Amino acid sequence: MSEHIETIRAQGVLTIRMNRPDKKNALTTGMYRGLASAISDAEKDDEVSAILILGVPGAFSAGNDIADFLAAATGQENEPLAAFDFLEKIIMVEKPLIAGVDGLAIGVGTTMLMHCDYVIASNQCLFRTPFVDLGLTTEAGSSLIGPRIMGHHRAFSLLVLGEPMNAEEALTCGLVNRVVTPSELEESAMSVAAGTAAKPAEALKVTRDLVRGDRHDVLDRMRHEMDLFEERLKSEDARAAIDAFLNKGK
Ligand code: COA
Repeated sequence: MSEHIETIRAQGVLTIRMNRPDKKNALTTGMYRGLASAISDAEKDDEVSAILILGVPGAFSAGNDIADFLAAATGQENEPLAAFDFLEKIIMVEKPLIAGVDGLAIGVGTTMLMHCDYVIASNQCLFRTPFVDLGLTTEAGSSLIGPRIMGHHRAFSLLVLGEPMNAEEALTCGLVNRVVTPSELEESAMSVAAGTAAKPAEALKVTRDLVRGDRHDVLDRMRHEMDLFEERLKSEDARAAIDAFLNKGK
């Protein structure tokens, strides 16, 4: 397990916290592995009936670690992007997945929310997916599930144009369920997760499965996007954007 992923089990909920505050919770290979493995553990654990994902105050996640993008683009990382297993897990997750989001939710920090069953955001949130500006393309199955959640026009401005969205806009377009203050966030998110976990188990599972529907089409789209994403990572546009970020301030 990555040192930046912490888990706690209480009230039938496995809480998974992304905890790399100095880098605004940018997700490294190790963190993706830690997240995927924590979700697997939760699925196998009979004492766990719901999963809660949290970040740190001010940063849910700044997205994929950009230095890791460089490693993938320059062939230093030969295996498929580590995000793959994590994304597969959250698309197909068998137990209710709840997120509590404060502050920055960039890139996969936004797209992972499309696979959660319930999202609580603080009023200080900023959702943004600057994939195209980085010379990249959208990921996590978001090109399919994003328009389903928010409609084409909103999905175009978020996923293609990279326009930022605040918490109220995210609430209006259906990306989040509820907006609270930052100080209320974690308690509210835990209350939803524990309340979900306390429901009659079989009825919860059957009803969630019906409402969530078969997600194999989203899984297939995520795999296709991943191929395109890996190709884009090797492009000159992506290299220039990655270099610019890594050399900022120099
Ligand atoms: N990958 C790697 N490091 C990241 C990161 C990322 N995605 N996002 C932030 N960081 C690092 C910064 O490099 C900085 O490190 P340093 O202190 O060693 O210089 C630290 O986190 C704090 O970030 P900083 O940029 O100083 O904070 P900010 O509040 O001014 O801005 C962001 C925050 C998220 C707006 C800005 O860091 C950013 O644009 N990050 C990239 C987001 C992104 O494009 N993600 C990929 C999406 S596909």
